[in-house]
Amino acid sequence: MSSPIQNVRGFGDVLPAEGPAWAFVEQTFRRELERYGYTEVRLPVVEKTELFSRAIGEVTDIVEKEMYTFTDRNGDSLTLRPEGTAGAVRAALQRGLLHNAQPRLWYSGPMFRHERPQKGRYRQFHQVGAEAFGVPGPDIDAELILLSGRILRALGVRDLRLEINSLGTQAARQHYREALIAHFEAHSAVLDEDAQRRLHSNPLRVLDSKNPAMASIIDAAPDLSDYLDDASRAHFQSLCDMLDRAGQSYHVNTRLVRGLDYYGGTVFEWISADLGAQGTVLAGGRYDILVEMIGGRPTPAIGFAAGLERLVALVEAAGTAPPAPAPHAALVVGDDSLQAETLALAEQLRDQLPWLHLQMPLGGGSMKSQLRRADRSGAAVALIRGAEEAAAGTVAVKYLRDGIEQVTVATEQLPEILSALHAH
Ligand code: HAM
Repeated sequence: MSSPIQNVRGFGDVLPAEGPAWAFVEQTFRRELERYGYTEVRLPVVEKTELFSRAIGEVTDIVEKEMYTFTDRNGDSLTLRPEGTAGAVRAALQRGLLHNAQPRLWYSGPMFRHERPQKGRYRQFHQVGAEAFGVPGPDIDAELILLSGRILRALGVRDLRLEINSLGTQAARQHYREALIAHFEAHSAVLDEDAQRRLHSNPLRVLDSKNPAMASIIDAAPDLSDYLDDASRAHFQSLCDMLDRAGQSYHVNTRLVRGLDYYGGTVFEWISADLGAQGTVLAGGRYDILVEMIGGRPTPAIGFAAGLERLVALVEAAGTAPPAPAPHAALVVGDDSLQAETLALAEQLRDQLPWLHLQMPLGGGSMKSQLRRADRSGAAVALIRGAEEAAAGTVAVKYLRDGIEQVTVATEQLPEILSALHAH
């Protein structure tokens, strides 16, 4: 035997035991997003590399070192999407969805980043994202944040902290960048290699450094909130008022800058204390410059994306996902010569009772082993059709979960018996 082939590091499998939590998370997102008027788009996993380098920014972790980029057989540089916003904007623009319209789109699917895998961080991971175009005011910011809070509450995950901030206009950030550069240059001896490299290209990212040697100069760095322009300040204040009015608590974190260059104005993150270093479960913000950067007319926009692996882990810990439904019944073929007609009977029952979960432990074998498999399926009853029952037009009903005695009923009575099980 040759040695078994393993998965690619960081590319996980979702096994059946995790199915209910995944389904619960995905269905909850779909339901709540639809209630707020978001419609689904399905976007390709591969885009031109240029889309991401332009949208996310050349000097970001993602574009510098995390993209799965390859040259295809035509010699084009393509990339497995590291996130969904760039593709959503590309599609909205290319397909004319932004013409005299303010679309609200959502998507779901795998994303790819070549990060160092650890708990809560994978190279293939899944996001649900929402993007709202064409609304410039703080009302959509507030609604999107309230929507994200509603989804997280519906999932039953607790102890989440909402952090919000405003990154201001490009001009405000430019002034702030200059102040940051001056501050860090005055302490250049303490800067590590990454910080040195980013100091002039993307000084805001220096603030994200986890290097303890730099903690005190980062603490002492100027604060973005002191550089905000009046319009951004007013926008942010209205957002806070709207969240207050709706009873949504939040923390203003003036150091929250997010890792993608397209952001400006409102940014936010939902963070769990229970996931260690990878605690952000849902994050987003305004990206009013992106549509124009990708070649469209200036169009305000805001969105978020949630990391499903992280939410599934929290849902599993909280035990809030409904379990997978057990089969109502398992239909056991008591004699190999009865396979064809028993299979036909199963089809007939499924036609008659559209809600019915009916399993058949196929593949023959002794009655004992079939009953063992029926029991393992979790079915409430085993329906046994041996030679004797087939000749008499009956079926034996063996209750597998409660001590009710076995009964033999006419085959026509099965829908009634199964309906009684369904009602319980
Ligand atoms: P992001 O912060 O890069 O934003 O990712 C959003 C979420 O995806 C994170 O908070 C996290 O839960 C999850 N995530 C990211 N990387 C990984 C990973 N390697 N393993 C597991 N989960 C991960 C964006 O992607 C933006 N497109 C969000 C957005 C939409 N902004 C506006 N619209």
